This record gives sequence, C-alpha cells and structure tokens, in this order.
Amino acid sequence: MKITVKTGDPAGFSTDLLAIPIGRSGGHDKRAEAKPRVPRPIQALDRGLGGVIRSAVASGDFDARRGEKLLLYPTKGQSHKRVLLLGMGEENDLDAETVRRLAATALSEARDKGAARVAIRAPSPRGLTAAECAAALAEGAVLGAYRFDAYRSKKAEKGKKGREPSAAMLVFDALEKPASVRRSAANAVIVAESQRVARDLSNEPPNSLPPSALARAARRVARETGLTCRVMHKSELEKRGFSALLAVGGGSACPPNLIVLEHRGGGAPAKSRRAAPTLCLVGKGITFDSGGLSLKPAQSMGDMKHDMSGAATVVGALRAVALLDLPLHVVGVIAAAENMPSGSAYRPGDIVRTLSGHTIEITNTDAEGRVVLADALHYAASHWKPEWMVDVATLTGATMVAFGPWVTAALGNDEKLLEALRAAGQATGELTWPMPLLPEHRRAMASTVADLKNSGGRDAGASTAAAFLKDFVGDTRWAHLDIAGSGWTTTRSPYHRGGATGVGVRLLVELLRREVQQNA
Ligand code: BES
Ligand code: MN
Ligand code: ZN
Repeated sequence: MKITVKTGDPAGFSTDLLAIPIGRSGGHDKRAEAKPRVPRPIQALDRGLGGVIRSAVASGDFDARRGEKLLLYPTKGQSHKRVLLLGMGEENDLDAETVRRLAATALSEARDKGAARVAIRAPSPRGLTAAECAAALAEGAVLGAYRFDAYRSKKAEKGKKGREPSAAMLVFDALEKPASVRRSAANAVIVAESQRVARDLSNEPPNSLPPSALARAARRVARETGLTCRVMHKSELEKRGFSALLAVGGGSACPPNLIVLEHRGGGAPAKSRRAAPTLCLVGKGITFDSGGLSLKPAQSMGDMKHDMSGAATVVGALRAVALLDLPLHVVGVIAAAENMPSGSAYRPGDIVRTLSGHTIEITNTDAEGRVVLADALHYAASHWKPEWMVDVATLTGATMVAFGPWVTAALGNDEKLLEALRAAGQATGELTWPMPLLPEHRRAMASTVADLKNSGGRDAGASTAAAFLKDFVGDTRWAHLDIAGSGWTTTRSPYHRGGATGVGVRLLVELLRREVQQNA
C-alpha cells in the first residue's frame, strides 16, 4: 500500500473510499450540548455528493462520537464511491492516538470492502503539528490495513473484499511545510511497516518458524536494510557456554540459536563528536512454548506460537532503526529456542550453569523465557557493554491477567529509562506501566541448592520473573518489558483483528529517537 500526502479539495479527485473524520464541538458551555460539526469544506463537498453527510448528521444517525463509523454511498457526483464518516468525539480532546485509530478504522474498513484507492481527510487536532498528524494517520493506515493471510490459498482479487488497498492518500486542506510533512509520513510508514514485519513473524505458525527459520528471517531483514546479522548455532553456543539457552532448546528437534542484529549508525565517530552510544534490545524468541516436561494444559498451549513476539519486536525495531538510519549503535540480541518435552529435554530438578556462571535450579520447565534471557542478557551486557538495554518478552501469564492486551508491564533497575519508556509509550499509544521490583521478589526466587530457582510460585509472577532477570544484567542500566498480554490478543481493536500486535516496535523506535535528540 502506497501512502501519499496530498493537499486540496477531495472534490478534485476520485477514490473508492473517502474517509471523513467529524468531531463534536460546542459542549464546553454547560447549557449547550456538543454537536457534530461538519467542517465548511466538507459541506461544499457534500453538496456535490447529494447531501448524504448532511442527512446522516441531521437524522441523528451519526453522532460523531469517538469510535463511531458510518459508511455512505453517495448517489450524486461519481468522484467517491463510498464515504466513510468517522467520529472523533470532542474536537478539543483530539490526540495522536485518536488520529491513529481513525486512520486504522478507515483502512480496515476499506480492506473489508475491497476499496483500492482510499483517501482520509486529515483532521486538525489542536495539540499536534501537521507533521505529527500525518505520522499518526500513516501509522494507523498501515496497521489498520494489515491482515495475516499468508496461508490462505484463495487470495483476494483486485477490487474484491479482503484485498489490501493499493493507495492511501492523506488529504490536507493546505500545508505550510509540505516537505517536512511528507518526510514525517514516510518515516511513520517505515515504523508501521516494521511493526507489520513483527506481526508477520509472530503470527507465523510454529511448524514453519523453528529457531533456524527465525534466524533466516532476521538475516533477510538484515540483507534488505543494511543491518549486519550473526547467528550462533548449537556448536558455537556450546563452545561459548550458553548453557541456559541450550538447556531450554534441548528438548526440541530444532536446535536453538542466538541471533545478533547490528545497526552501526552515525558513520565513523568524528573527533569532534562522541561516538554513537551502544544500546541493546534483547528479545525472547521461544518459537513454541509447550511448557516442556512441565507441560502446559492444551487450553494454554494453543497460542504459544506467539512466544517469540519479543524477538519479533526486536527484529521489527532494528529494521526501522536501519531504514531511518538513526545515528546510534543499536544491537539486537535474540535467544531463539523451542520449548518441548522429550528424552533430551531439561528437567525439573536440573541445575543449569549459565553463561554468567550463576547457577539456576529448574523448578518448572515452563518458566523457560527467563532462562534463555539469562544468557542473552548476560551476553548483551558483557559483550556489548551498552549504555542501557531493554528486553522484550512474553514472559508471564501474570502480566496478561494484570494488564490484559492494553498495556505493557515495565520493570527494571533504572528510573530514568523507565520514565523514558513511559513517555515513549504515551507518545506512540503503546502504553507501558510500572510494576514493582523489590528485594522481596528476589527472595521468592531463592533456591536451596543453586544461586536461584526459575519459578517463584504464583504470587507477583511478573515481578518475581523480573527479579530473576535482574541477576543477569550486572550493573547495566536495564528495563524489562513483559508483553505477554499486549503482544498478541484475541480482542479486536482498530489496529488489528487479534493475533500478533507487534507491540513494542513503535515504542522502542520512539525511545531510540528520544535518545538521538538527547545526544544531539
Ligand atoms: N510464555 C509463557 C507466558 C505467557 C502466558 C505468555 C500466557 C503469553 C500468554 C511463559 O513461558 C510461562 O509459561 N510462564 C509461566 C511461568 C510460571 C511457570 C512460573 C506462567 O506465567 O504461568
Ligand atoms: Mn513457558
Ligand atoms: Zn514462554
């Protein structure tokens, strides 16, 4: 789908679907009720279309409340086959997230209908620049148009229901700085398409995405974007002492991998300039989590192809970082393994000596994510010595219960980094929320026979898991994002129809952009 920024009157061109956001205004005075307000240029356009918009509003069928949508078929003027009215709610409350959702709803609807050429009239939210508005529209459009249909034999034909639109135009009345608005939209497309790459990986079924295929996918992305990619196979992992990763992957016929993606941005460090700081993103890449010998019940196992969503997010974020060419040195580290029960699987009772030298008593083979991350985090911290690192993982059912699909849990050892993640979440709509990380949580992970055990029981599951991870980060500034709830979902939203969300791509790219601004 091609996204373009256009200026002028939608009456001047034709589409298969024109989306028109409409807000409510006038409700701040207590006596007056807010009413849908049809902007003047749209009133003129509507007259040419036979007055369908006016009728929809006058009848009271369309209230312009946030999230509302109404599809209309103009009978006059052949320029727009369909007009989609989108409710924005109170005009003064309009923010970037609402704009993203508007565009997502528009493109999702357009795809359902098989509309090929789509236009969205840009709203003019008070708190956003035109460039920010264009970015939000572009992100929403690209994400809303997403479907995972790689395995459907019958592909939707051009102009037929389910086919992805070929063009989405973001239409502004006029623009003061069109070049910067276009750049902003183009960058947003890069980020949103990277999020789609993450979704594709996470949605891929586990029989077609063992660790080796995840590594191949990372390689392909690297080749396409100029990242470097190094994959450590079983023999090298053995030689280097990645025993925790090897233990978790031991039960599978598909051996584990450590995948390292690297973006060297900012060119060679000039004398006058500080070298670009090194930052690490670490992803949990369990391509399928059966629970291992501590086997999951069938009900909980069905969605465990998504247990590599953290890894998918890291691949997506690195892709965006490379294409945006951020002046940073960013290293993505992915611990890929399949957690399966078999004669060679690791067992409850096993004691594993990790890469860091710390020993782990395995009390539950289903708490495998933290075990592979133990090696990945230690490797990232000790080998790359980053300024900070963030890991992303579908780590605990406890987070899913606490936050549902709507929020990502953030824990760590550095308040500044956590605050930056909160702010980046606010800006991108990928919200993060803190959970406590206390000495008590670490105490719950104490083992009687090893340095720590891998399962601390039911209480405070998200926090005890993070307390476990903390043992492996040394004194590196670190944050842990638990996306068990937000990474995939069965709930529909304007952005997706369930399945993988690709959450974390926008968030991490925004975090890195803020890092660039700080270093400037
Ligand atoms: N991958 C799961 C966590 C998960 C659960 C992600 C549901 C998404 C949805 C993880 O490996 C796991 O099994 N965690 C256990 C840990 C427990 C055994 C200490 C959990 O949360 O139940
Ligand atoms: Mn598990
Ligand atoms: Zn898992």
